[in-house]
Amino acid sequence: MAEGGLHSRFRLAREIAEEASSFLLSHESLRLSTRTKAENDYVTEADRAVEGMIRQSIGRAFPGDPVYGEEFGGDTGGRSRWIIDPIDGTVNFMTSFPDYTVSIAYEDEHGLAFGVVAVPRQHEVFSAFRGEGAFLNGSQIHTDESGDTSRTLALLVPPHRHHEMLDGYIVRMRRFYEIISDVRSIGSAALSLCYVACGRASMYYETALHIYDCAAGIVIVREAGGMVTLLSDDEAWLDIAASSAAAHRKMLETIDG
Ligand code: IPD
Ligand code: CA
Ligand code: CA
Repeated sequence: MAEGGLHSRFRLAREIAEEASSFLLSHESLRLSTRTKAENDYVTEADRAVEGMIRQSIGRAFPGDPVYGEEFGGDTGGRSRWIIDPIDGTVNFMTSFPDYTVSIAYEDEHGLAFGVVAVPRQHEVFSAFRGEGAFLNGSQIHTDESGDTSRTLALLVPPHRHHEMLDGYIVRMRRFYEIISDVRSIGSAALSLCYVACGRASMYYETALHIYDCAAGIVIVREAGGMVTLLSDDEAWLDIAASSAAAHRKMLETIDG
């Protein structure tokens, strides 16, 4: 696809993310209508409503574009497709914890082309287009490349849906405490990646993600100067390590032990 076509999709993605944010802020009561999809995995009326809105807007502007989304599925393997997660951080949304996001990405034959992550409660929108840098509310952002990680945060997410993996997580977390100041887990993969991109954290590690959790955030980290390693290649089970470029080798060694 010509760059012009990609850029118009990028513009649309930013508009949709803003619309979805306004919708979520004015419909937070939908957090109360919740269904369980799998163990420790929930969906609210808002997740479905927002994915429906996003699909409609894409379909109106670019009829025929394949879309892969968490709630209504779709194109899992195509080379050119939208990848959307209407609410990344559903448990946060359900519990009124403010860190939930709307995540929209586009992938073409060269890989991930752009990503937009909106954070309604914070009134923040992170975005990046391949080769053009990463931005937070229009200002360019960069990973923290100071090199000294001893005063930084690592976002290490417990395997909350795979409790049999918790012991390994705790051993790894102990190793991380040798190289960083403290650990957080903020409940949204997309937001975690954005926080690495803008230097609020220097590292993010999580296992067993889906591509829609992290596609937009991956572009944003890379365009902010950071590095992302996918330690598995199944888009329904992605183990992901993201960090500043300066800290990446140290991070991978810490994961491996
Ligand atoms: C979840 C969030 C969470 C991560 C989970 C994801 P959802 O997505 O990204 O941070 O730990 O693994 O499934 O269910 O809120 O869209
Ligand atoms: Ca998600
Ligand atoms: Ca979701």
